[in-house]
Amino acid sequence: MKALVLAGGAGTRLRPFSYSMPKQLIPIANKPVLEHVLENIRDVGVTEVGVIVGDWAQEISEAIGDGSRFGLRVTLIPQDKPLGLAHCVAIARPFLGDDDFVMYLGDNMLPGGVVDIAADFAARRPEAHIVVHKVSDPRAFGVAELAPDGVVRRLVEKPLQPQSDLALIGVYFFTAAIHRAVAAIEPGERGELEITDAVQWLVTHRARVTASEYDGYWRDTGRAEEVLDCNRQLLGALSARADGTLDGASELTGRVVVEAGARVVRSRIAGPAVIGAGTLVEDSAIGPNTSVGRDCTLRRTTLMDSIVMDGASITAVTGLRGSLIGRNAVVDTGAEGEGHRLVVGDHTRVEVAA
Ligand code: G1P
Repeated sequence: MKALVLAGGAGTRLRPFSYSMPKQLIPIANKPVLEHVLENIRDVGVTEVGVIVGDWAQEISEAIGDGSRFGLRVTLIPQDKPLGLAHCVAIARPFLGDDDFVMYLGDNMLPGGVVDIAADFAARRPEAHIVVHKVSDPRAFGVAELAPDGVVRRLVEKPLQPQSDLALIGVYFFTAAIHRAVAAIEPGERGELEITDAVQWLVTHRARVTASEYDGYWRDTGRAEEVLDCNRQLLGALSARADGTLDGASELTGRVVVEAGARVVRSRIAGPAVIGAGTLVEDSAIGPNTSVGRDCTLRRTTLMDSIVMDGASITAVTGLRGSLIGRNAVVDTGAEGEGHRLVVGDHTRVEVAA
């Protein structure tokens, strides 16, 4: 079996971050979403991975290289325009050949892994096998209607009136039967070739399509709130480790990771939290539920429930919470004087306490 990871797409729901980086490289517990994805694929025992890339091909390539760091062989497959998930399957055909493959959306987080689901696919041998998850509002997703034995009766992409609460989540297992379906469908309402429509084409043409329900934690990390929520979830599973340096006036409580080369001075860090390599935390209170990337500087700062990306610096700002601070961003109180001074990019969101 091969794997096809989709890491193209514009990521408009994650602006402003997606102006300067692909959403698949947003760090969750200090590791890009895409690395979490590749590790789940490796755990299934797949080694040949095609990665669909769009405008951010260079950045993705620099982040994952040839895949050997994860025990994988990665082939990048360029997609000129984001024409849909089924279009990705079509352009990957030379890479996929007639092999079975797992298709994995590169912004989907399933910390529970997909090993059991892969085993389900192998045991049942349907033409296609989808993964569903109960959600409270399925209208934002592909929605599946299942028979009691897990056979798929119908799939609809983002229905206005969903007939079930089972959303399709971003992992699909396919045999070569999917290629005929992809070739047969037309673009859907958003002008894209929808994989949901291709799988529905198989159902209509009497192919066997089955589903596994994933009942662990799942997030499509398409929006800032989901990224922060996912970060909280993953930090909660960390084991404490202090490889960096900590002075006598500092205190770590709960599960805190201080990576090698990080320095904590006269500060309190409440877990779950991670402080990245080369970062300085001084006279600050950090956490819980906070990850700070590499080479950041945090001075006289209080911060919780947040992600600070590599190279950012925060000085003398207290009460920060629920924040996503981008790479090399500077947050401080500025010079003496009145008023707030903001130099922020397009589609940035700033909430200033009253
Ligand atoms: C895509 C699929 C949808 C699926 C979702 C899961 O939606 O089209 O069927 O439920 O991923 O994340 P998109 O994120 O492209 O809107």
